[in-house]
Amino acid sequence: MCSAETGMVECAGLFLSNNMHPIKDYAHLVGHLDGFNADLIEEHLGLYAGYVKKYNEINERLGSVERVGNYSYAEHSELIRRRSVAWNGTKLHELYFDNLTEGGMELGSGLKIALERNFGSVNAWKDDLKACANATPGWVILAQQIDDGTLQHYVVYEHQNNYPAEVRVILALDCWEHAFAKQYGTNKGAYLNAFFENLHGEELERRLG
Ligand SMILES: [Fe+2]
Repeated sequence: MCSAETGMVECAGLFLSNNMHPIKDYAHLVGHLDGFNADLIEEHLGLYAGYVKKYNEINERLGSVERVGNYSYAEHSELIRRRSVAWNGTKLHELYFDNLTEGGMELGSGLKIALERNFGSVNAWKDDLKACANATPGWVILAQQIDDGTLQHYVVYEHQNNYPAEVRVILALDCWEHAFAKQYGTNKGAYLNAFFENLHGEELERRLG
């Protein structure tokens, strides 16, 4: 049996980090992104904070539940299964909000070259991203393969389904309706245009391996 204390878990005499994750502050984005109403971003940040809290809650609970697994149901099993949802919901939202900035920033030269090499042109990359966005109610990620450095898109359902292994996320695009419907209804295309207008090109360049 393990016991959770502040910031650590004592388990069989060993102290292990319980992986508490802080909620990042994105107040600088609220009311400062063209095409994104302040209340849309505020509501979205509230959802993000909910994923962080659930991730922390799951890790805290794992510090005290019995380590018994079962395919049908066991508390430990369910917590482990759902941790992927809370963690991906946390990190994908951070990648999303981090790749937005007031007024947008031009793509770095390294990323432009990589996009041209992998998609044909920057415009062709944008077209491909838009096509992917129309194929998922979850996420689109522009990913760099760890194996060979190439770039390609993946569509992710919910936050954890269809998620590729061994990739570096260069861009995260939230395609859940909560990201745009409050302002744009079903017009996902207008949302995507606003997304591109505020894209943080320098941040994307920094993520390249
Ligand atoms: Fe979201």
